[in-house]
Amino acid sequence: MANKKIHVGIVGASGYTGLELVKMLVNHPGFALSYLATTAGDTMIEQLHPALEGVLSLPVEAASQEEIIARCELVFLALPHKTSMGFAKGLIEQGVKIVDFSADYRLDLETYEAHYCPHEDKAHLDEAVYGLIEYTREDIAKARLVAGPGCYPTATLLGILPFIPYIDANAPLFVDAKSGVSGAGKKLNEITQFVTVNDNIFAYNPLKHRHAPEIAEKIEKLGGAKMHVNFVPHLIPATRGELVSVYATLKEDIDPNEILQKRYANDPFIRIRQTPVSIKHTAGTHFCDIFAATNGNALFVNAAIDNILRGSSSQALAAANLMCGYDEGMGLPTIAYVP
Ligand SMILES: NC(=O)c1ccc[n+]([C@@H]2O[C@H](COP(=O)([O-])OP(=O)(O)OC[C@H]3O[C@@H](n4cnc5c(N)ncnc54)[C@H](OP(=O)(O)O)[C@@H]3O)[C@@H](O)[C@H]2O)c1
Repeated sequence: MANKKIHVGIVGASGYTGLELVKMLVNHPGFALSYLATTAGDTMIEQLHPALEGVLSLPVEAASQEEIIARCELVFLALPHKTSMGFAKGLIEQGVKIVDFSADYRLDLETYEAHYCPHEDKAHLDEAVYGLIEYTREDIAKARLVAGPGCYPTATLLGILPFIPYIDANAPLFVDAKSGVSGAGKKLNEITQFVTVNDNIFAYNPLKHRHAPEIAEKIEKLGGAKMHVNFVPHLIPATRGELVSVYATLKEDIDPNEILQKRYANDPFIRIRQTPVSIKHTAGTHFCDIFAATNGNALFVNAAIDNILRGSSSQALAAANLMCGYDEGMGLPTIAYVP
């Protein structure tokens, strides 16, 4: 007899990360996609995403907590910050497991309120587990609420955390990051228009982006060191993909390759590369590719991910797999969109 599938839902099914999740869940052996929602609903998933025509036909409803509680054991909240916590707080106590994509449960209260807005679900903030799989796997497996890390923090932390014990915390840490335009979500704004992005590359929110405090907080929590993070994101004329270059100062001589190999020996979705990494080799996959090199006391760490997969949706699915007792890698994409 076939195993019973676990019923899951997606709120935010019309967005970029929602679509990536749908694509992975269509063929997932352990999850049944039982509920899809947006603000207005009243449509079909193949109408929202014509690429799904002939692949999947499911109604998309106006988001309702009652329906989620009645129909889902686990729900993915692929929603903007603030909207997420509005949904989550009424679901957790009703026994629905949650994987949230927004910043709402990622940060300590003080950091969150300093950079986002007043928190509306303080009661559940402390129990949320930060979903950076390779560092919080055991806690995720026991969690009822997982906070998906930001896309830039995912690549940055996976690259830099193994080196924290060797880095001079008094020297500046620079994170130079580049993202494809899908990182900004589907809503058009001034900087994501074609004529602005095409044939172009530029920094935005240099040293002020909200992912800097997230990176700093997690370096302290997961790496055990307080560091001042200088973070500069750039937009590049690509649909998906994120490349992070970290520059740090070392306290001692190290073999960076040996450190990476040792830290990630049991992590099948981290690939240690011998040459600088490229977004194309990870596009369409859950992999994070990492390369590191030193020059005297200078350390260069280079990490590449697909922002809407490893930076959000596939990382969320890996967390959901663990929360439901499945193999971490179940249903995660591994073949890159090359050439
Ligand atoms: N894009 C990335 O690479 C990335 C990476 C990491 C994390 N994230 C985070 O993931 C979340 C989703 O990002 P995204 O890029 O997928 O955004 P998006 O393309 O803008 O999609 C947002 C989705 O949220 C829905 N929504 C908004 N308010 C709602 C409400 N009150 N009720 C129901 N649905 C509502 C929208 O539905 P409507 O069609 O009804 O407006 C849409 O489907 C954000 O928190 C983002 O910061 C994104």
